[in-house]
Amino acid sequence: MDFALPDYVRHKDNKNLSHIPGSYGLPVVGRTFQFVLDPYKVLDDGYREYGPVHKASLTFQKFVVALGPEFIQQLMLDSDRSFSARMGYDSPLGDFFAGGLLMRDFDEHKFHRRIMQTAFKIDAMRTYVDLMHPIIDRQVDQWGDIPAFHFYPHIKTLLLDVGAKVFLGMDMEGEETKALNQSFLEMNEGVLALVRKDWPGLLYRKGMNGRRDLEKFFLGLVPGRRGKEGSDMATFFANEKTEDGDYFSDKVVGEHLIFLLLAAHDTTTSALTMAAYYLANDQAWQDRLREELKGLGRPELEYDDLGHNVPDLDHCFKEILRMNPPVPMLMRRTVKEVEVGGYRLAPHTMVQISPLYTHRMEQWWTNPHDFDPDRFAREEHKQHSFLWAPFGGGAHKCIGLHFADMLFKCTLAKLVQGYRIRFAKEDQYPSRIQHFPFAKPMDNLPLVLEKL
Ligand code: HEM
Repeated sequence: MDFALPDYVRHKDNKNLSHIPGSYGLPVVGRTFQFVLDPYKVLDDGYREYGPVHKASLTFQKFVVALGPEFIQQLMLDSDRSFSARMGYDSPLGDFFAGGLLMRDFDEHKFHRRIMQTAFKIDAMRTYVDLMHPIIDRQVDQWGDIPAFHFYPHIKTLLLDVGAKVFLGMDMEGEETKALNQSFLEMNEGVLALVRKDWPGLLYRKGMNGRRDLEKFFLGLVPGRRGKEGSDMATFFANEKTEDGDYFSDKVVGEHLIFLLLAAHDTTTSALTMAAYYLANDQAWQDRLREELKGLGRPELEYDDLGHNVPDLDHCFKEILRMNPPVPMLMRRTVKEVEVGGYRLAPHTMVQISPLYTHRMEQWWTNPHDFDPDRFAREEHKQHSFLWAPFGGGAHKCIGLHFADMLFKCTLAKLVQGYRIRFAKEDQYPSRIQHFPFAKPMDNLPLVLEKL
């Protein structure tokens, strides 16, 4: 089914925000550099000086920033279809992730989200857990023997391997998968390029070449999966049909797979890295997790354990995503006039809401900067339905949230059962944290893993 290009896509951003309080900072760059170094501080300064809704120039774009759970609720639920995700993310992601779910709006988005649904049903999830465990076991078992072990590069490799298996049904050993990984990593680098021109020698060109290689790869992969049985996501997507009984085209399936790889990989890598970081600093919580897992009476988690059988592990997962949400800011652009926090916003105005800030607001959370998973046992997060929103909400709510939950818990369970996690250096806490594109300690988290 073809959807016409919506008219709002053709418009430039509305830059006339003179009626909104706030300041842009320096010409062109605004407060981008301060924001990249310490996003919470920049948002908090803006909140204190101008209130929850103010204008700012961050990441080289002019935005209205709306801070607090009520605005996350308004933009995510979007009851009268006022906010476009596609145009919100067009500038940073448009070229690289064209055709991905987040780059589609409203009816078109709903239609496409169907392609992915089968791959995220419970039966499929159970199969993914079985596919994941051997890869996690094999790699984590080797980590204790690696000298000068840095957690971040190893968890990244582990999750790429899990991704190749679960998303594409491929094993990492093959040369083809190695080339695929390389293209994927290059595309991710390109997303961050400051000069956004597809010219020779530029990082952006390298990223776009990565994207073109991935497109070529998926165009070749999808036809071979039609009509076949398989428990990987590519095979599920390739066999999904429209209401008229037609397959989605190779191009459409490929575009969804590329976006999925991006959405799944760095987010979970960041969450697990930050988990290892906070747990290395908190031996008592490591012991609690070990005790809880021992109580299960078997070494590996099953899909059905994830809900209620491991509450401490669940609260750790939630606390990590509260403190360092892998997607710290959610972006939208208005498609029509709309009111946000008492201000009328003209069509085509960029708006950002912030899980990162909302997750640390003092009026809602006790000691918000402290690692305290028990706050979820106390149900602090239940004061407002969008107070804890690392996965967004509404139509675009993360489709992979149960997958992320499962991967996080299976990996962390394996890690804490096999090793005591310690920092490799004296005074390693607090480390300098790199916030963009995804949170991680700048030193890649050197650890000592003591075999248990
Ligand atoms: C801790 C890990 C993850 C976090 C924090 C996360 C967060 C998010 C957020 C906040 C959104 C919504 C963005 C918005 O509305 O602006 C989103 C969307 C999405 N996520 Fe995740 N995600 C994670 C892992 C995953 C995984 C593992 C997958 C796939 C297996 C995935 C696939 C997607 C897709 C396809 C979308 C777009 C959904 C749509 O537009 O309908 N994510 N994610």
